[in-house]
Amino acid sequence: MGASANGNGAGRRRVAILVSGRGSNMASLIEAARNPDYPAEIALVLSNRPGALGLARAEAAGIATRSVDHRAYGGREPFEAALHQALLDARIDIVCLAGFMRLLTAGFVARWHDRMLNIHPSILPAFKGLDTHRRALEAGVRIHGCTVHLVRAEMDGGPIVAQAAVPVLPDDTEDSLAARVLAEEHRIYPLALGLLAGGRIAVEGERVRIAGHVPPAGPALVNPAG
Ligand code: GRF
Repeated sequence: MGASANGNGAGRRRVAILVSGRGSNMASLIEAARNPDYPAEIALVLSNRPGALGLARAEAAGIATRSVDHRAYGGREPFEAALHQALLDARIDIVCLAGFMRLLTAGFVARWHDRMLNIHPSILPAFKGLDTHRRALEAGVRIHGCTVHLVRAEMDGGPIVAQAAVPVLPDDTEDSLAARVLAEEHRIYPLALGLLAGGRIAVEGERVRIAGHVPPAGPALVNPAG
């Protein structure tokens, strides 16, 4: 890969994806990185759950995997020390959390400041935490969606890189709404990683500025329309 693929002229960034479950967002990042012009390569998929489906899917895609089982460590800090060592061993530049179900300490997060992304299934700052689709339905919101953000110590907090909105339809169930949001997750996570790895993101006052980004002109997204 030539140096031109990266906005910093430094070649492709080496990315680790951290998963705990099925890994569908992981798969969307692996797919995006198959394009040689994409500024990131997936160098490692790591899980805290040795049986995670995401690990098997990554192996099938020919990606290096590791599991660091949190139950084998006497607390969060030794677990994170092992995690950090695995990332150093693989010479990782950027970490992507993709359904990684462990809270990370402020110390770990600080080591990856502005180099760690997370995807969350809501339009943050609404609906931080779990069960976002159920809570969106209960709240009666007309628009729901997903967010990719840089990770800070506060759970589901941090500068927002990309968001996508979907309508909430009258007959939606948690599952139908989750599926509509997930399709958007698979679109915006590769987009956001591409921006970060391509050196196009600047963080100013905890807000993300994207170099060369022209906001789309047009009517506001309103649901229901008209
Ligand atoms: C996604 O909905 C993601 O937004 C959330 O956890 C879920 C992970 O799904 N953080 P998958 O493992 O990527 O399929």
